[in-house]
Amino acid sequence: MKLVHTLSDLRDHLSAYRHPAVVPTMGNLHAGHLALVRQAKPLGDITVSTIFVNRLQFAPHEDFDTYPRTLDADCQQLEAAGCDLVFAPKEAEMYPQPQTFKVHPPTELADILEGHFRPGFFIGVCTVVLKLLSCTQARTALFGKKDYQQLMVIRNMVKQFAMPVNIVGGETQRSEDGLALSSRNGYLSAAERQQAVQLSATLKTVAEALRTNTVLDAAGISRLESQAMQSLSNLGWRPDYVAVRRQADLQPAQAGDAMVVLAAARLGATRLIDNLEV
Ligand code: PAJ
Repeated sequence: MKLVHTLSDLRDHLSAYRHPAVVPTMGNLHAGHLALVRQAKPLGDITVSTIFVNRLQFAPHEDFDTYPRTLDADCQQLEAAGCDLVFAPKEAEMYPQPQTFKVHPPTELADILEGHFRPGFFIGVCTVVLKLLSCTQARTALFGKKDYQQLMVIRNMVKQFAMPVNIVGGETQRSEDGLALSSRNGYLSAAERQQAVQLSATLKTVAEALRTNTVLDAAGISRLESQAMQSLSNLGWRPDYVAVRRQADLQPAQAGDAMVVLAAARLGATRLIDNLEV
């Protein structure tokens, strides 16, 4: 496996390949990232991973400075998963000048849910993903369903800009108790880690209620959402949202739609997100 830090080295190494399959990450890798790398392997003629903590997608009060940076361990895991090339640029390589050209995703998709609670988040994500896909000459790129809205925003961006990239979604990888793997799980204390399973358990309860009660109207769905928020609050979480949405466009769901339940909540100082397709 080759590790490169500059665009010029990246381009040199990619010149012999026609179909890079790319897994963009912010590093501090876990089995969720590595599953995407393994899934990427048969989808291209070279498997590329990028590691870049993208300042543009963090608000000033968020965890950009403390986000774990573990390049050596990440590279060992990537190599074991079959990655061929890692692009880990320094900030000055990705943003040699202030990035004043930015991608503004549409309000109805990007200012709801995560975008509502993290204003500008998807501008930062789209801008860096556009740039990373362009730099790596990706023909296939893989993103996890764990970040369901992110996957949808990126799919739509790539489609509307007619980028020659096939976007592939990967299933959410979970630990045994059901907690979705996340780099931010490392922020949890031992007691919080025990409690963290309550987020996926709450999503399961909502999904189960939707499955067994297929005639729910808007008021019924909204009642399920508030009950789930309330039960998380009672357990000591500070939920931002629990929302039942259409899989197709993340707009409010109606009976008969293919649905997804999405949630974001804080446990202590850690904000976790998760979702379940119904
Ligand atoms: P990061 O949080 O490092 O995640 C990188 C990729 O791994 C994303 O596509 C994410 O959805 C996926 N992923 C994370 N946890 C997962 C899990 N438990 N199961 C399956 N896939 C999982 O998402 C980002 O970085 C950034 O926003 C990025 C797209 C790299 C742009 O900066």
